[in-house]
Amino acid sequence: MLSSVLILYMPLLCSFYAFCEARDTLRQGEWISDNGETLVSAGGKFEFGFFSPTGSSGNKRYAGIWYHEWDNRTVVWVANRDRPIINANGVFNLTEDGELKVLDTTGKVYWSTNIRRLCPCDRTVTLTNSGNLVYGDYGVLKNILWESFNTTTDTLLPGMVVNENMVLTSWRGPDE
Ligand SMILES: *[C@@H]1O[C@H](CO)[C@@H](O)[C@H](O)[C@H]1NC(C)=O
Ligand SMILES: *[C@@H]1O[C@H](CO)[C@@H](O)[C@H](O)[C@H]1NC(C)=O
Ligand SMILES: *[C@@H]1O[C@H](CO)[C@@H](O)[C@H](O)[C@H]1NC(C)=O
Repeated sequence: MLSSVLILYMPLLCSFYAFCEARDTLRQGEWISDNGETLVSAGGKFEFGFFSPTGSSGNKRYAGIWYHEWDNRTVVWVANRDRPIINANGVFNLTEDGELKVLDTTGKVYWSTNIRRLCPCDRTVTLTNSGNLVYGDYGVLKNILWESFNTTTDTLLPGMVVNENMVLTSWRGPDE
């Protein structure tokens, strides 16, 4: 009885909270919203979603990756670093035209991969257990179009690529 009730209401519960098994991948046309929805890497090490820097007033929202396995919210990568979302609801969207975007519910864009390479294929974005957000054609490893490791911000993770054009910058303060 209980289980049949659960099965009946599962889709409803899923649409509210992270009640269901966390996912690590978005398919084309899917998104996560800044209401607690996140991606969690398959091994549970990293999480991607919206956050405010620890100690900040919390009205600036960023999309980024942090350690899921640690409870101190150590952030390792930020997408819209220079353009926080202020007083609006953030969305991370893998749009139908095959673009990764951080936007708000009014449609204002804060960050985008800007890969204008239309194709008939089915794109996905996956958060790997090494903390890399990998975006490519379905079957991700076959044709990677973009990866967060190559656009590093704060912290270096093993496997990240560093070249002379990459300068590690740290947060100016908790509210920035
Ligand atoms: C967060 O916790 C981890 C594991 O306990 C630790 O290694 C790391 O240094 C901590 N980071 C900060 C910024 O406190
Ligand atoms: C995400 O993008 C698709 C277009 O690909 C759009 O239909 C959808 O409304 C967007 N979602 C949000 C929450 O903005
Ligand atoms: C990321 O950088 C590495 C090393 O330069 C390169 O092999 C890889 O193709 C790059 N990834 C993308 C998606 O450009």
